[in-house]
Amino acid sequence: MSKALIIGAGGVGRVVAHKAAQLGNVFHEILLASRTEARCQEIAKEILELQGKTIQTAALDADDPKNTVELIRRFQPDIVINVALPYQDLAIMDACLETGVPYLDTANYEPPDLAKFEYKWQWAYRERFEKAGIMAVLGSGFDPGVTNVWAAYAQKHLFDQIDTIDILDCNAGNHGHKFATNFNPEINIREITQRGRYWERADQNGPGQAEEEWVGGRYKSIDPMSIRWDYDFPEVGVKSAYLLYHEELESLAKNIPGLRRIRFWMTFGESYLKHLEVLQNVGMTRIDPVRFQGQDIVPIQFLKALLPDPASLAKNYTGKTCIGDLVEGVKDGKRRRVFIYNVCDHAECYKEVRSQAISYTTGVPAVVGAAMMVQGIWKRPGVFNIEELDPDPFLELLARHGLPWQVIECDPSVPLPV
Ligand SMILES: NC(=O)c1ccc[n+]([C@@H]2O[C@H](COP(=O)([O-])OP(=O)(O)OC[C@H]3O[C@@H](n4cnc5c(N)ncnc54)[C@H](OP(=O)(O)O)[C@@H]3O)[C@@H](O)[C@H]2O)c1
Repeated sequence: MSKALIIGAGGVGRVVAHKAAQLGNVFHEILLASRTEARCQEIAKEILELQGKTIQTAALDADDPKNTVELIRRFQPDIVINVALPYQDLAIMDACLETGVPYLDTANYEPPDLAKFEYKWQWAYRERFEKAGIMAVLGSGFDPGVTNVWAAYAQKHLFDQIDTIDILDCNAGNHGHKFATNFNPEINIREITQRGRYWERADQNGPGQAEEEWVGGRYKSIDPMSIRWDYDFPEVGVKSAYLLYHEELESLAKNIPGLRRIRFWMTFGESYLKHLEVLQNVGMTRIDPVRFQGQDIVPIQFLKALLPDPASLAKNYTGKTCIGDLVEGVKDGKRRRVFIYNVCDHAECYKEVRSQAISYTTGVPAVVGAAMMVQGIWKRPGVFNIEELDPDPFLELLARHGLPWQVIECDPSVPLPV
């Protein structure tokens, strides 16, 4: 039995708190702490109604490690599940190091003033976590998260050699708004307005402009949303997916031996892309301060204030998400291509935990990863990306707790887009 401190009471924090409460045989005490305690209290009330369990709440500004250290010393958790924003990652890792408590998150660190997500800042903590004898697991959401674990599963069970991975993320849901983001608008828009990037081995020759070398390969960069793939997603149908950079490419290129290429694709509707283009063109997605009527405002933060709170989309959301890894390589001397995927229904998520599927598919793997750690199933001092750990027990628990997954064989002779 263990105690979990959950930091962040947004869309994902809500799911983490509900699912941890459901896993009463693993987490006997839960403290949900966030910048605005009222949001924690609202979730705690809902958990009592829906799950019949009382959880504790606290106000916490996790930007300052001192506050988190104080809360950890008071509550004495066995794990800290960080589902606040990527900006808080390093401060929370510092607090875990100081108090000797294991750490888990779902998104890698980003400096607030630079829209660039890279693992280098968190990987720099490896030696300190090793020396302190505590474990940190990075990226235990869906993507990154389950998509990384599937790559490890494919490596372990389905292939002798993996050549290419295409991660395909489709949200075919409808929330009824002309423009809204499914998770924190600031983080989401920073992510998708960057130049697209993918990684391939140095001897490959795909489109795009070669950028810096990385583990024997090159990142190739392309204009945002300039490469499209109309993919036929199981249960959802054909949707237009666009090549963009996502953080799991960095760790998977390093951790899947012999990989030749890895790319990430996300679907967007036409209306979403049109709105985004206009917002970008008029400067509303800028992350630098602009002087307005005697004060500094950051346009993207102002835009966040205007857009619907992602959690509020949940109630009337219909449709499904389908996220999967299309993996190709060799098994027993033959070419093989598989699609490993999950389909999640927005309305079902709302019924169970008052959430939409994007937050649900992120929150469930966070709790499953935390369960692996507190039960000692994953127990190694240091900082790890999730694909470095045994995928089997994680995937088994994931399927039992709301995210079942399938593997389908695909025809390897059908050309992939280049
Ligand atoms: N891997 C994946 O598949 C995946 C997918 C989606 C999201 N994510 C990640 O999940 C995390 C949460 O996303 P979300 O959609 O739940 O975001 P959200 O709805 O904006 O929630 C973020 C929460 O963090 C709190 N917070 C912000 N700054 C804080 C601070 N300094 N101290 C304490 N709490 C603070 C916010 O407090 P207030 O209520 O006061 O604003 C809010 O409750 C993000 O890091 C996101 O990138 C990962």
